[in-house]
Amino acid sequence: MQREVDFLVIGSGIAGLTYALKVADQGNVIIITKTLEDESNTKYAQGGIASVQHAPDTFEKHIHDTLEAGAGLCDEKIVRMVITEGSERVKEIIEWGTRFDKNEKGDYDLAREGGHSEHRVLHFKDSTGNEIERALIEEANNHPNIEIFTHYFAVDIITQHHLGIEVTRHSTGIECYGAYALNLQTHEIETILARTTLVATGGAGHVYKTTTNPVIATGDGVAMVYRAKGVVEDMEFIQFHPTALYHPGENPSFLISEAVRGFGAVLKTHDGSEFMHRYDERKSLAPRDIVARAIDNEMKISGDDFVFLDCTHLDAAELKKHFPKIYEKCLSIGIDITKTMIPVVPAAHYICGGIKVDEFGKSSIRNLYAAGECARTGLHGANRLASNSLLEALVYAHRASLDAKTNFRKIILKQDVPDWNAEGTSSPKEMVLITHNLTELQNVMSNYVGIVRSNVRLKRALDRLRILYGETEALYEKTTISPQLCELRNMIMVGYLIVKAAIKRKESVGLHYTTDYPPLQSK
Ligand code: FAD
Ligand code: SIN
Repeated sequence: MQREVDFLVIGSGIAGLTYALKVADQGNVIIITKTLEDESNTKYAQGGIASVQHAPDTFEKHIHDTLEAGAGLCDEKIVRMVITEGSERVKEIIEWGTRFDKNEKGDYDLAREGGHSEHRVLHFKDSTGNEIERALIEEANNHPNIEIFTHYFAVDIITQHHLGIEVTRHSTGIECYGAYALNLQTHEIETILARTTLVATGGAGHVYKTTTNPVIATGDGVAMVYRAKGVVEDMEFIQFHPTALYHPGENPSFLISEAVRGFGAVLKTHDGSEFMHRYDERKSLAPRDIVARAIDNEMKISGDDFVFLDCTHLDAAELKKHFPKIYEKCLSIGIDITKTMIPVVPAAHYICGGIKVDEFGKSSIRNLYAAGECARTGLHGANRLASNSLLEALVYAHRASLDAKTNFRKIILKQDVPDWNAEGTSSPKEMVLITHNLTELQNVMSNYVGIVRSNVRLKRALDRLRILYGETEALYEKTTISPQLCELRNMIMVGYLIVKAAIKRKESVGLHYTTDYPPLQSK
């Protein structure tokens, strides 16, 4: 089947939905999403969205905190742009029906998280992402020009390559004509021709064994764009959230929001001692890279599998009121957080790098935009400041929409695109060939490309990934396409990009910490 559309959007998280709502008055929009319409990293965001509201906070303070967290590698122009435009974008999602908590005076109840010098995080209890996703989905479903196709898996973006014309990476002439997508209800691969395409496929947490990300986070967009010879950058900067709930056997890991530390909770070792003061003067509220590394170090020294987050000294009623979901979740596994410390461990959480885009979300491929977690904008540098990603997604969805709306009428839909060629493939004989390679990938990435790295570990990872890549490509050549196989292939590609970027970076900076190149200034 072939479809034609003005604006194709891949992904229905905050970035994809916001963009769709902004372009839809100009033309028709198809959003494809690989599972349910609201399943996304966005839905699970807890802490909130960082946005300057009023004194004593200022744009300059937020800019300073973002640059500081980014360890010298942020693009300052982009930081200024996102932070100053962000407040307007937040107002828009409020107009679309998103609710944020207010205090008794009727002002927004602003939370504080690691690396922030002020209280500036708008939130809806500890379920902010769910509230944003709800409002955006409702708005999109009510828009006559937007169709959301659920259970549609984007396999590849279409470029000249599919017309038999070879292109090289960094070439300025690559064009995107839409995407091939597997309709999971009919099992047919459809050709969706689009004047413009936005990749908004989110993160890649499942490249690692332990992650806070839902299962959709497999780096599909980054892998698709890289395969299409688009430019991808900063992949070595993988953010591990310091405080995922330690509950072996549960995957994804449940997040204990940084806002809990912002509310006064303190990290402790098993003997009840605080340790963060030995690593950073901001203690438990230091930026994430520092806290995650400190926890990793304490666990290595003690041999323990986790540390504790202590909330027991905090006002129990207020704690329950601010963090009802966290309270309920912990209680469901026998931990009353008002009386007992929470076992926590770092888990893969966010990818700072991705598809390189300019200030209008334009990738290196013509007519192809990227926004949200899959995009590399220059905002985060070597480490993302907490709650800056929802903000970044809003600003880039808006900016990409401005460019796409201005230009889409000039773009002629490509007519001679061939249907997907599935010749010579058959159903997989053994699913274990896929699942075993996934487990191996996750082990390699977690063991050798985690919070602390070294040349030897990275080389080992690269050697293993080459084998996994060869085996999986061979399988892909002769097997009918399935989401499981595509995701494995994409995750191996993303793992490879992370390792290659990590090997290339001969220094410790932000989230990339290697024992072979100690940090210039130790914190
Ligand atoms: P997502 O919301 O992940 O959406 C991606 C979409 O793409 C999904 O609909 C998915 O199904 C679809 N998709 C992916 N691949 C394909 C494919 N091949 N074909 C079709 N569809 C596809 N950030 C903050 O700023 N504040 C927070 O408080 C916060 N808390 C977080 C808590 C958790 C537990 C997690 C996991 C993340 C948190 N983050 C937070 C990060 C933030 O939620 C994400 O970075 C952000 O929501 C990403 O939005 P997105 O639109 O780019 O991607
Ligand atoms: C959290 O609530 O701790 C997550 C915030 C984020 O990832 O930005």
